[in-house]
Amino acid sequence: MQDIAIRGAQVIDGSGTPAVELDVGIKDGRIDRLGDVGAAKQEINATGWVLAPGLIDTHAHDDGAFLRHPDMTFKLSQGVTTVVSGNCGFSAVPADPEADRRQASGGILSGLQGDFRDLAGYFDAVLKGAPAINNMMLVGHNTIRSLVMDDPKATPTAAQIREMQNHIATALQQGACGFSTGLIYHSGRYSQTDEIIALAEVAGQADALYTTHMRNEGDHLLTAVEEALTIGQEAQVHTHISHHKAAGTQNWGKVVPSLARIDQAISRGQAVSVDVYPYTAGSGRMIEYFNLDRINRDLAEVIRIASCPAFRQYEGKMLKDIATAEHIDITDLVRNILTAPRGEATICIHFIIDEEDIVHNLKWPNMMVGSDGIPDLRGKPHPRLYGTFAKILGHYVRDQGVMTLPEAVRRMTSLPAATFGLAERGMIKAGFHADLVLFNPDTVNDTATYDDPQRLAAGIETVLVNGQIAFTQSQHCHAGSGQMLRYRRAAHDPLR
Ligand code: ZN
Ligand code: CU
Repeated sequence: MQDIAIRGAQVIDGSGTPAVELDVGIKDGRIDRLGDVGAAKQEINATGWVLAPGLIDTHAHDDGAFLRHPDMTFKLSQGVTTVVSGNCGFSAVPADPEADRRQASGGILSGLQGDFRDLAGYFDAVLKGAPAINNMMLVGHNTIRSLVMDDPKATPTAAQIREMQNHIATALQQGACGFSTGLIYHSGRYSQTDEIIALAEVAGQADALYTTHMRNEGDHLLTAVEEALTIGQEAQVHTHISHHKAAGTQNWGKVVPSLARIDQAISRGQAVSVDVYPYTAGSGRMIEYFNLDRINRDLAEVIRIASCPAFRQYEGKMLKDIATAEHIDITDLVRNILTAPRGEATICIHFIIDEEDIVHNLKWPNMMVGSDGIPDLRGKPHPRLYGTFAKILGHYVRDQGVMTLPEAVRRMTSLPAATFGLAERGMIKAGFHADLVLFNPDTVNDTATYDDPQRLAAGIETVLVNGQIAFTQSQHCHAGSGQMLRYRRAAHDPLR
């Protein structure tokens, strides 16, 4: 007898092949039977809906959210059953409970309370809160650097390199899928290529990943791609380029030569993969984008405030509109915000990307999808947090026909599962973990907007995480069945 039978769905198995009408039986957390399912304790009539593997968010900053918001509604409600956290060089671990968590987490991983130090300790702390979805972790360069180096602008000594390598090795042993950098952020931006090669080698030796928010995504995008490829080659490591884009109107279109260069590297045998988020705006901690001595007016003109502890009344507004209303120069406004108490915690949204570049990115044959959502739920976060995956399925696949539905499902399931080492996930296959999403292909859509960014996606009918119904009929079921995943291995065992 099966625990759950899902009957009559159009099954898209994640491999890229077309839908087939098939019954699916689930037992003990796994997909047990396909086709002739027999009796079940619980029946789901799924006629007219698509059943796909649970979606995988390759680019998350949910390290702290797993502790602060274990319901993970913003991801679960889109059909996401696994995220890869620890991106852009910022990760929950390694952690020093005595050190300033804000410093180590770049201020975007809010909620990192607890006395854990390593990945196993973090996993135990998260599991106590019964998280709704699964998490796979990267270990971040900026975080490690802030623990090991007193002077962020210095070149690390041989002993410091060894200490950083040891932190990476420990995280990989405990199940991290790789090492991430954020080379525009503090303090990774001060690192030289050689330092990163020495650290990425540790991931290469473990056959894990090197993921990077590159040193430049605008005027010097192509130079930054060269650096990422050099690091991959020298460190002998699979290189994953995060949120591929060409920022700034003067750079629009550069994603074309950038992807062509990546194609060339792949054709020469290098392992390279890429993800993108489907929005024309980026988002991050505002202080990282400005030099207070020389405030970039052009950038300020395209910025909207997401969350701002110092001036809550600015949330959801464009800087240029605030400046006009308050009769001040926009550069003075930027300075006022960033130098106010807790001004450094301000999260902004910047409109810097071309829609055509997004489509070009999505048409690249193995492009994955990463939300890059920043789970600061006060204020008005970038709508990608709640909308990314439904926007791909609704807007880009059904309405724009950028790719077929089975192909989109492959890019968001089996491809990232294979790349990020999610063992026995990402496909509808007997024996695999029952991470599943049922959706209505005619109505699936993102509804989160910049003005109203915390609206749940439409058309997501039911989501199962490890065989438990986690979300159904727009209701969170609080199954708490998420697991802490280990690279190419079984999930972290809290009873170890
Ligand atoms: Zn990034
Ligand atoms: Cu990121």
